[in-house]
Amino acid sequence: MGKIFVFVNQKGGVGKTTSAINIGAYLAMGGKSALLVDFDSQANLTSGVGIKAFKPGIYELLSGSAVFDSVLRKTALNGLSVIPASIDLSGAAVELIEQKNREFFLKNALEPARNRFDYILIDCPPSLGVLTLNGLSAADGVLIPMQCEYFAMEGLTLLLQTVKRIQKNLNPSLTIEGIFFTMYDSRTRLAQEVVKEVSAYFKDKVFTTIIPRNVRLSEAPSYGMTISQYDPQCSGAKAYRNLAMEVMQRGV
Ligand SMILES: Nc1ncnc2c1ncn2[C@@H]1O[C@H](COP(=O)(O)OP(=O)(O)OP(=O)(O)O)[C@@H](O)[C@H]1O
Ligand SMILES: [Mg+2]
Repeated sequence: MGKIFVFVNQKGGVGKTTSAINIGAYLAMGGKSALLVDFDSQANLTSGVGIKAFKPGIYELLSGSAVFDSVLRKTALNGLSVIPASIDLSGAAVELIEQKNREFFLKNALEPARNRFDYILIDCPPSLGVLTLNGLSAADGVLIPMQCEYFAMEGLTLLLQTVKRIQKNLNPSLTIEGIFFTMYDSRTRLAQEVVKEVSAYFKDKVFTTIIPRNVRLSEAPSYGMTISQYDPQCSGAKAYRNLAMEVMQRGV
């Protein structure tokens, strides 16, 4: 049975998509089958792994106009597949609000994925709206990327309240799989302090691996490549490989 993880942080630009892509890539390179689910109408994940055909994708799957097999795409990396998103997904957010059981559409849509993939990674948009609630309802575990900045703790508190609410009302078996730091710049004292503070508070919920700020990570998606394809020796690649190993070790 595959594990479903969701990348959530209501703050924009903290590394959700970059992390989903590259953790997925290293899970695949570690011999696991991984499915990336682009659940953001920005479709950064889809284009970031070099997929040009955005439709049919997750929106069509949710709305019932496409079946599971028709929305699956293989990437250039062996073992890594994607369900793409398109701008149409922004309409889904509005349509879902009206529906009964609106939080469970993604869970139902991903039912066939569980016994075909070892890992299913959902990339959410930067909000705690109905799409993210669907992501949290569908998942076994939440992965929280955090940038090391001043308001990080406040944002995290709100996010964890939301997770608690989901656990109580929609998905009792949801766990916080872990928090990890992204775009870390060891030269700034603030970054060091945020890591210290969050680690002291959340203890073993914090992954050991810290993702450094690394320009190669921001270049790779414009070539439609994972970091393992674009520059496997750079610091960002090594960090994501380690993080994927931690995810594998925790998630068995
Ligand atoms: N470790 C890193 N070092 C340098 N640049 C990074 C790193 N991680 C991500 N980036 C860049 O920072 C930007 C934001 O990253 P990303 O798109 O992964 O964040 P996000 O949380 O998915 O954003 P959004 O909330 O808009 O979906 C992107 O341009 C990405 O290429
Ligand atoms: Mg994103």
